[in-house]
Amino acid sequence: MPHSAVLLAVSGAVLALCGVCVARSDAPRGVALGFVFDPKAQCEPQCEHGGICIRNNTCFCSRGYEGETCQFATCYPKCKNGGVCLRPGKCRCQPGYGGRYCHKVTCDGGCWNGGECSAVNGVPRCICPSSWTGARCQEALCPQGCRNGGLCVAPGICSCPDGWLGGACHTAVCALPCLNGGKCIAPGKCRCRPPYSGARCEDKKKSY
Ligand SMILES: *[C@@H]1O[C@H](CO)[C@@H](O)[C@H](O)[C@H]1NC(C)=O
Repeated sequence: MPHSAVLLAVSGAVLALCGVCVARSDAPRGVALGFVFDPKAQCEPQCEHGGICIRNNTCFCSRGYEGETCQFATCYPKCKNGGVCLRPGKCRCQPGYGGRYCHKVTCDGGCWNGGECSAVNGVPRCICPSSWTGARCQEALCPQGCRNGGLCVAPGICSCPDGWLGGACHTAVCALPCLNGGKCIAPGKCRCRPPYSGARCEDKKKSY
């Protein structure tokens, strides 16, 4: 490639990037514009990852690399929480962290039902939406309560055992209805109004 073409390529890169790696300690670091390109320059050790030798022992690194010989990959934003930059823009995260920049906490087993994993005092924890609870937000909440052995199976929804009905499993079911104003107080059990009695309040006591 003729030198002018190289220069064009380099100055094009300068506009797009801004990383100059300088091997000699007396040379300025991080200067992108206005450098002198020496076509006879020699860099020892050689520039890595597509870096260009622009002065003796001075590499101009391609995008995503830095260091005296462009040996280090760079990640922007930087890898957070102790993550290591493997190659440009690719972080390897420490356990408990995830996401492109290791900026996200990860909860073992995940957070269900819209829960969000967040660090609470440095410990990953699921922050659950209001209707769910448990370590993974796996347990539904029934604010009304599920009585008589009912189970909360979804937010506000109780699954009731046989013989009970209602939002909180609070209504007993009497397969045969209670008569004469009697009230079903438990599955198949009527509480009768005087003067009635019997399983269904069907009997009228004799009045003396
Ligand atoms: C660069 O290094 C070579 C070989 O060591 C040397 O001949 C040359 O003069 C150097 N160029 C500059 C500008 O220092």
